[in-house]
Amino acid sequence: MSVVLGRDLTKVYSLNGRQVAALRGVSLTIAAGEYLAITGPSGSGKSTLLQLLGGLDSPSSGRLELMGRAVEGLSDDELTDLRLRQVGFVFQRFHLMPVLTARENVELPLAEAGVGRRERGQRAAELLAYVGLADRSDHRATQLSGGEMQRVAIARALANRPALILADEPTGELDAATGAQILALFDQLHRDGVTLVVVTHDEHLAARVPRRVHLQDGRIDRDELATAR
Ligand SMILES: Nc1ncnc2c1ncn2[C@@H]1O[C@H](COP(=O)(O)OP(=O)(O)OP(=O)(O)O)[C@@H](O)[C@H]1O
Ligand SMILES: [Mg+2]
Repeated sequence: MSVVLGRDLTKVYSLNGRQVAALRGVSLTIAAGEYLAITGPSGSGKSTLLQLLGGLDSPSSGRLELMGRAVEGLSDDELTDLRLRQVGFVFQRFHLMPVLTARENVELPLAEAGVGRRERGQRAAELLAYVGLADRSDHRATQLSGGEMQRVAIARALANRPALILADEPTGELDAATGAQILALFDQLHRDGVTLVVVTHDEHLAARVPRRVHLQDGRIDRDELATAR
């Protein structure tokens, strides 16, 4: 079973009576454990594609299966549940809750999934240790550095053991050294078998990723596997 199976996906946005074709026929299959970078010029449809892959938005046409289930056939509740349990999102600007501590931020999706208090605390502690922040769990988001915030966001994305992690420009707000720490963490996730899709402008990031998909004007014009290193 593929984690993602997309066929001829299109996305047309309507804005003030004008139609903007953001995706014009994208077909993409992602197997469990793959690590992909999506690159391409600004406006080529990268974020739009990521939103479809995460069930945040639905395609205008085409077929999309996530974890073997056709997205089209899902009710809103089923789609919400799929997003909560099967997909973890990482954003450029972290999107942490500022007044909550690192641990509380990681516990949020666990609470939403109905995990009990004790297990939540344990799992959050494990995840913060996994991203190297065991000693920052009581810091509020505002009391963390940018790189630390992004690591908390990655721990939060992993909370419900999702089948797929989607990241949109995860190093975009970070300096080079801090970005490198985040890349090392993605390598660790990949080694541990997590399926990862990372949208990036960062050539260093793209160059180290095993599979690179390039978008141009809403279409995939290159989909290449790195030769074994
Ligand atoms: N909600 C929306 N309504 C209307 N048009 C949109 C909307 N979201 C995106 N678009 C348009 O769709 C196209 C693709 O946008 P998208 O955000 O996917 O590009 P991107 O490749 O992520 O760009 P960037 O690298 O700048 O983030 C753009 O032309 C954009 O203006
Ligand atoms: Mg974008």
